[in-house]
Amino acid sequence: MDSELCENARWLIGAAANGLGAREGPGISEVLERLAAQDLSVAAFREPSPTSLPVLDHLPQCLGEAMLLDANLAAAIAAVEDGLQWRQSAAYSDSLLGEGFTANYGWAEIIGPHGFFPGDDFLLGLLMLGPGRHYRDHYHPAPELYWPLTSASLWSRDSGPFVEWPQGGTIWHPPLTVHATRTGETPLLAVWSWTRDTATPARLT
Ligand SMILES: [Fe+2]
Repeated sequence: MDSELCENARWLIGAAANGLGAREGPGISEVLERLAAQDLSVAAFREPSPTSLPVLDHLPQCLGEAMLLDANLAAAIAAVEDGLQWRQSAAYSDSLLGEGFTANYGWAEIIGPHGFFPGDDFLLGLLMLGPGRHYRDHYHPAPELYWPLTSASLWSRDSGPFVEWPQGGTIWHPPLTVHATRTGETPLLAVWSWTRDTATPARLT
């Protein structure tokens, strides 16, 4: 067992909880309550099989920006960077989401079946999108919180207009809410959480 990675994973989870706890917005208290119920003991720690994706080319730029928002959190992400298992939905393809999408998208679980701690029907992770992308309308039964650590991402709910979100602002999607994300000239790095009903994956509309 890699005890340093375990400690760093717990540092990252604590940093995310502290950062969210300092904010106000729908869903934050639900995420923090569910997070507090997770087993983050040393015994529960599992080293994921790290995997990389092309979108990680943008991670240094994103971490540089995140450092300005929350230096502790950005440093904690960097500390576990080599242990993360970056993944993509098997249902997503460039033909569905636009040329180059799969080279500019990925997520990694921190808590979850592919994360450092398995979690109890609860996911906490990181999402990345490269510049100029449109992660189009999708939905899932899990209530979801996004916390963009970078600036200038655009978010749409119920197929409504895209609204530019400030760096560090949180976005809450109640169950089955249709939502979409766009990026402009800069890539997106966000913390995300599914608080329950995590077995059913996202579906594009
Ligand atoms: Fe979602």
